[in-house]
Amino acid sequence: MLALASVAVSATGADVPARAAIASAHPLATEAGYKMLQQGGNAFDAAVTVAAVLGVVEPYSAGLGGGGFWLLHRAADKFEVMVDARETAPAAITNSLYVDENGVPVPGATLKGGKAAGIPGVPAGLAHLARRYGRLPLRVSLAPAIALARDGFNIDSRFARIAKVRESLLLEGVNTARIFLDNNHAPQQGYLLRQPQLAATLEAIALQGSNGFYLGPVAQALVGAVKAAGGMWQESDLSDYKIVERAPVRFSYRGATIVSASLPSSGGVTLAQTLNILEQFPLVDARNPASAHLVIEALRRGFQDRMRYLGDSDFVKVPTATLVGKSYAHSRAASIDPNLATPIDALSITPLAAKSESYNTTHYSVIDADGNRVGATLSINSWFGSGVVAADTGVLLNNEIDDFSLGAGLANTYHLLGGAANAIAPRKRPLSSMSPTFVEDAKGVMVIGAPGGSRIISMVLFGVLDYVNQGKVDLLGIVTAPRYHHQCWPDVVEIEPDSFSAEWIAALTAKGHQLKPVNRKWGNMQAVFKSGVDGAAQAASDPRGFDMGGY
Ligand code: GLY
Repeated sequence: MLALASVAVSATGADVPARAAIASAHPLATEAGYKMLQQGGNAFDAAVTVAAVLGVVEPYSAGLGGGGFWLLHRAADKFEVMVDARETAPAAITNSLYVDENGVPVPGATLKGGKAAGIPGVPAGLAHLARRYGRLPLRVSLAPAIALARDGFNIDSRFARIAKVRESLLLEGVNTARIFLDNNHAPQQGYLLRQPQLAATLEAIALQGSNGFYLGPVAQALVGAVKAAGGMWQESDLSDYKIVERAPVRFSYRGATIVSASLPSSGGVTLAQTLNILEQFPLVDARNPASAHLVIEALRRGFQDRMRYLGDSDFVKVPTATLVGKSYAHSRAASIDPNLATPIDALSITPLAAKSESYNTTHYSVIDADGNRVGATLSINSWFGSGVVAADTGVLLNNEIDDFSLGAGLANTYHLLGGAANAIAPRKRPLSSMSPTFVEDAKGVMVIGAPGGSRIISMVLFGVLDYVNQGKVDLLGIVTAPRYHHQCWPDVVEIEPDSFSAEWIAALTAKGHQLKPVNRKWGNMQAVFKSGVDGAAQAASDPRGFDMGGY
């Protein structure tokens, strides 16, 4: 019998030691994932189901109109791979569509409407996972999502809250008011949301695999809708879309093996850099002030290199091996003053601020009884993406083009800066921060990840540090622990409200850090752990997702 420990919601609720565990941002998705395991599926089948259901019940975060990364471990031969289903830029894209003749960004161009949307990768990712790694046909693994889209589900308080925040986007968007609003108002908790057209698109994928999305009537409807909404997609952008299997970033931290997302996600590289730097210091608790100073300085250097060097490695040469190496970390660590923050002037940055929209995306983690594992972080970028739904498809399109860099000093919605490495180019994939990660040591293995734009990287960093520091794994403690975040620019350290003492703030301020309390807690981390001793599995979901009104 499958069971789920801790705070994630189980389909079974059975009180026996679990061998499999699933943690996702929505109980209906977790429940459907367990159902696949019970029907003879493996972790990869469950991953297809969870992703598809999340796209129905959390349409504001991810779905068929988006992209993402699946990090896989196959127990039988210990094969590990990252399935890159990141969106690609359409062939007709140019930077000049997003900035005026003076190089000033056109307001909203990367965030709303047809120009904001990249070519989705999730449908191809689902078909690829099922075909290459799963045991069940898509008609089985997609069935729960199809039923929930067709018959509807009662929206939860999180949906209602996010719809309220994005009410104006949904009112102005293409087909979004009709689908997601209740008489032109954000729906209340409990509202029955039916998405019959999305159900039909899922059925087309269940029957035809990725051809059901990237060819034929769905593809034609998507292209027509994007063009009508000011974009420049062509049918060949869809028919040419390809999943890429990539070697993950792999490194060690204090005896643990860490496996994380490779480019075009910055996650693994930046995580490796920061942890390699921190390994040079006798760091114990990431939240004591002396250690927090070191963590912030390591993040400063990691994010500085993200900005300088990282982009889609199929298009630009990135010195990845150097960046993730221990000797580079040694030289970067040597520049840290244990008593003082490194001044921003030393980093030669003159940025223009961007308006923050939202910190969205979704993450789920799966481990099955055989030890197959999946960490998946999927996104349509900001809440409800570009606000464009191609009418007959029910597919809400992403606004992932905003993850490209429009030019030196021009920040995106997550205040991230970038350079030529992450410049817009046809068919290129925008740099991401999504960081599905495995952490393995003698205790066992943890699969971890979170939504939250640039903050994903610091959240996962804390997850690794806390796991490695713990003698006995406290998974709920890991996903619940207080967070702070730094990303080189802006030169501030964001801190969660009501989480750090006045003494803590004073100690960090004395070292020259500018602390910025944020008005909401952030993240919705989803973690599973399987013991290396007895194979018992447990799951934990971040209480911020539902109870604490976090991002
Ligand atoms: N769209 C957010 C990310 O990929 O990092």
